Amino acid sequence: MSKTLKNSPPLAETLVAWQKIHGRNHLPWQNTQDPYRVWLSEIMLQQTQVSTVLDYYDKFLQHFPNVADLAAAPQDKVMGLWSGLGYYSRARNLHQCAKDVVTRFGGKFPVTAAELITLPGIGRSTAAAVASFCFSERVAIMDGNVKRVLTRVWAYDADLSVSKNEKALWQLAENALPTRQIKTAMPRYSQALMDLGATLCLPRKPHCQACPVRQTCKAFALGVPEKFPVKTRKIKRSSEVHWLLLAQNTKGQVWLEKRPPRGIWASLYSLPLFDSEASLRAVFEPKAKLLNLDKTATATSSAAMDLEVLPAFKHVLTHKDLHCHVVKVQLKKAPRAPHAGAWFSEKDWMVLGLPTPVRHLLSNSL
Ligand code: ADE
Repeated sequence: MSKTLKNSPPLAETLVAWQKIHGRNHLPWQNTQDPYRVWLSEIMLQQTQVSTVLDYYDKFLQHFPNVADLAAAPQDKVMGLWSGLGYYSRARNLHQCAKDVVTRFGGKFPVTAAELITLPGIGRSTAAAVASFCFSERVAIMDGNVKRVLTRVWAYDADLSVSKNEKALWQLAENALPTRQIKTAMPRYSQALMDLGATLCLPRKPHCQACPVRQTCKAFALGVPEKFPVKTRKIKRSSEVHWLLLAQNTKGQVWLEKRPPRGIWASLYSLPLFDSEASLRAVFEPKAKLLNLDKTATATSSAAMDLEVLPAFKHVLTHKDLHCHVVKVQLKKAPRAPHAGAWFSEKDWMVLGLPTPVRHLLSNSL
């Protein structure tokens, strides 16, 4: 081992010193030790960029200044405020977690990662983020950015799709935690790993020249930082076809149903969904005839029923592609759709929790 390497301060100390000067230190969820605020930000930041989260974070805190307010809110209000952030299971778990904090912990978040992880929607890394940021607990975080940073620093080339390899990386991460001045070092160290992953140690074209740990980074020394992390198993994608009913009454209101608590768009409001054209047709008066069902063409219409087939579109989710067909129709009475629903005017549907493609349809097709 070279002299430089031997005398280098440990990774943690280098990162802590770097974060102080070059890290992000003015995000709205920083400079607080309030676990409610930190937890809220961590859930929102899962799979979502900081720039997108900022407005949602402010809005949530205005409506729900503390965990008891969030716990007491109706689910529709929580889903409505979350609308547009995506990954709606986060919002359902967020709400359930707030309720559990109230019922199980008397409205005070627990202070250890071991207890935090028992709450809905809080995994090992989120528990560690809250515990290290708020309570300086010596625990390792490991989100996607951190995996990238650490596997590169150590040129850790074991396949992370294999759970024992991922477990081993967690263990290495625990071993690398700060050992001095834990109270101040821990929150800064967790933030440093996140900041390095988000600003320099990028998936493609990392900015190694500006990296505080390039001298000890094994992937940099090998000249192949982009090869890490190694993850061979790709997510299996599937695809589904859905038929959406865009029904309007004579007042211009639109028919929306509340989705069941499980499955696609769970607990959100949506246009009624059907798995086939035939089942969609069945909700009309018997005399309705769907003419000219052209899935790709521009809108076609039936004069008799004021009925249109809108252009089909694809909506891409993490694990599946949704191929959506939309039938727009004027109805005098409520459709016989499978779930409970109601007519909503624009000012009412604007504030509902709606899946993104449904919101786009309502904004562009009415
Ligand atoms: N992503 C996850 N947690 C974060 C944080 N505390 N700051 C910035 N980005 C993050």
